[in-house]
Amino acid sequence: MHHFTALADVPDLGALLETAEAVSRHPHSTPALGRHKTLGLIFFNPSLRTRLSSQRAAHNLGLDVMVLNAGTEGWALEFGDGAIMDGDKAEHIKDAAAVMGRYCDILGVRTFPGLKDREADYQEEVLEAFKRYAGVPILSLESATRHPLQSLADLITIRMHTPVPKPKVVLTWAPHVRALPQAVPNSFAEWMNGAAAAGQVEFVITHPPGYELAPAFAGSAPIVYDQHKAFEGAHVIYAKNWSSYTDYGKILIQSREWMVTPDKMALTDQAKFMHCLPVRRNVVVADAVIDSPASIILDQAANRVVSCQAVLQHMLMG
Ligand code: CP
Repeated sequence: MHHFTALADVPDLGALLETAEAVSRHPHSTPALGRHKTLGLIFFNPSLRTRLSSQRAAHNLGLDVMVLNAGTEGWALEFGDGAIMDGDKAEHIKDAAAVMGRYCDILGVRTFPGLKDREADYQEEVLEAFKRYAGVPILSLESATRHPLQSLADLITIRMHTPVPKPKVVLTWAPHVRALPQAVPNSFAEWMNGAAAAGQVEFVITHPPGYELAPAFAGSAPIVYDQHKAFEGAHVIYAKNWSSYTDYGKILIQSREWMVTPDKMALTDQAKFMHCLPVRRNVVVADAVIDSPASIILDQAANRVVSCQAVLQHMLMG
């Protein structure tokens, strides 16, 4: 595998999942695969899980790691081709990415959307510039439109916790106080639609009207506007807030009615509760759910190491 920025970058998902299972059982079985190689982690935005899990995964493989908090500690970057750089941008991405590519064998990049200009965000300007200029494989640490390391960890977690052959997986919108990107739900939908096409899950999306995901990500998943109905018979409830795609970047409702509560979980078939974290407790989900035995958020977070290590292994093997 060369880049890892979307499901389409994975040539053989079955092989990647097999690697993930092996990593899960024996995380230290290939301590020399990354010897004398360096992983650069470039953060334009904050992170807890992605930052720590990718370092842990890299160390398990013998990789050296360098971290740059580019959003706060790097030079302000210009992305415009042919720009006359007489403003506040000190360095062009063409030079910065190429230099980082000389220092590192793989570059991980986290870059959130601005949520102002949908076309610009969905063109993935930053990630695409790294792909174009760095000259080394690019690992998405969450981009404007996707979070594939999270989605792979989610898939691993669902496989681990749902013994039924074709679990009903429900992605539910939940309230939040801030406008959040669509990257996690987009990516989750992309991976779950793939699993649904392979007959491995039944995938349903529930959200209030106005929160439809981009058609390329929602795919053919049924959209159920009644959250209670969507929860009926579910084996996995995956909660996440996102801002509107159609009224781009806007919060359309603040209603707590969409919070995940014990009453709603009671409608499911003893569903597991998932969230990628960080989560606003008692806004997105009630304490009584997230602290219950149904909650698998910690396994989900722990599987971020597994997903990253499996992906790095496949990138290192070419
Ligand atoms: N879920 C996730 O990516 O967490 P961080 O933003 O803390 O990395």
